[in-house]
Amino acid sequence: MQHIKQYVNENKQRLLDELFELLRFPSVSADPKYKPEVLKTADYIAQKLRDAGADKVEVCPTAGNPIVYGEKIIDPSKPTVLVYGHYDVQPPDPLELWETPPFEPTVRDGKIYARGACDDKGQFYMHVKAFELMMQTNTVPCNIKFMIEGEEEVGSSNLAIFVKANKERLKADVVLISDTSMISMEHPSLETGLRGLSYLEVEVTGPNRDLHSGVYGGAVANPATILAKMIASLHDENNHIAIPGFYNDVVDLTPAERTALNNAPYDEAEYKKDLDVQELWGEKGYTTFERTGTRPTLEVNGIWGGYIGEGAKTVLPSKASAKISMRLVPNQTSEKITELFTKHFLSIAPASVKVKVTPHHGGEPAVTPTDSVAYRAAQKAIAESFGKDPIPTRGGGSIPIVALFEAELGLKTVLMGFGLDSDALHSPNEKYDIFNYYKGIETIPLFHKYFAELSK
Ligand code: BES
Ligand code: MN
Ligand code: MN
Repeated sequence: MQHIKQYVNENKQRLLDELFELLRFPSVSADPKYKPEVLKTADYIAQKLRDAGADKVEVCPTAGNPIVYGEKIIDPSKPTVLVYGHYDVQPPDPLELWETPPFEPTVRDGKIYARGACDDKGQFYMHVKAFELMMQTNTVPCNIKFMIEGEEEVGSSNLAIFVKANKERLKADVVLISDTSMISMEHPSLETGLRGLSYLEVEVTGPNRDLHSGVYGGAVANPATILAKMIASLHDENNHIAIPGFYNDVVDLTPAERTALNNAPYDEAEYKKDLDVQELWGEKGYTTFERTGTRPTLEVNGIWGGYIGEGAKTVLPSKASAKISMRLVPNQTSEKITELFTKHFLSIAPASVKVKVTPHHGGEPAVTPTDSVAYRAAQKAIAESFGKDPIPTRGGGSIPIVALFEAELGLKTVLMGFGLDSDALHSPNEKYDIFNYYKGIETIPLFHKYFAELSK
């Protein structure tokens, strides 16, 4: 541990400067106009991996954004860790809500503000720097492979193809990912599951053109009103999801599992204060931890239609649309839930409108084992660097590729994230605490060390 602290201390400023350089690339995957920047980001990471001492570093082209690969095989008989991360980021919009520009990283109050600061540049880059540290101090204890992709935020479809085509190259004993959250720095935790996702777009069409709302209003169905009613009916009075069959494949947690999960520290007053809400909302009979971790949910991600420009326009819109996503838990599957949703949504449409449902990407839920060598290594690493045992939690977000690693490579994952839910991922003013960044760089070498030791 001493050599780790010393290395981080001696290189503090540079470790930060390099992350800042990485954060200045606007590597947004959702919008093709950023493609040139995306390519530059991949080249930058490849160079940093080479500088750190990785071999066979390659920017692997795909039909979309490239994947950066690199490895260090110190001894083929030793265990191998496959580190996964993503260099693409969410769009920064709405720009006007950022206190400082999203691609000009700025430190305020010990925190780095930038798009991607936490999700996932700040987090995956800790692995590159932890690897550099191990190389420089001659303490690489196992084989390490890196796979950093550029399309996580848009569904990882090209990574899925890459994984299937590169099974030999990606051979490993475990996948290690830092792309999740901890409860707090005082209460370090390890996520032991991720939810799946079904994402769809719905479009409701009424009359064949926008109409004068005085001339036609009252006589013709307004698609915005109809859409609002249809969406409102998707939750019942207890906030259960009212799609027939939706919960059929949900595996309920045992009472013991529920108790363990709810034992984690949680301050409801603080939670509400952070979000500036008077009251929480959710499925009756479940706690906040359960609602966000072990229960499936349905959210409207966007809704539009009619006139939304300056001033007023008296119009009865021809169309109204919404983007809707559902978070899934074991053993729900994205395909089946998408089908159930589509069938139900079409069935509740009144004859006064036409409804179209278009599926977007999806992903399967995943749970990670808590009795494996790798999990124990992560526990030991965190216990040593934080001075406290990590609390197992279930994350609400999705990293669809985790289920695919298991299906295609037969690999389990350890989710050793160092972010916080309050880091504003996907929101304006995303941030990452400098403290967490260094803490991650210090903890990761311990994971590799204990993984190698416990694998013997
Ligand atoms: N890193 C997040 C997922 C995450 C965040 C997991 C916090 C646990 C805690 C990831 O980058 C992400 O945002 N995933 C998307 C899914 C993707 C298919 C767009 C998500 O969860 O919405
Ligand atoms: Mn992420
Ligand atoms: Mn994300």
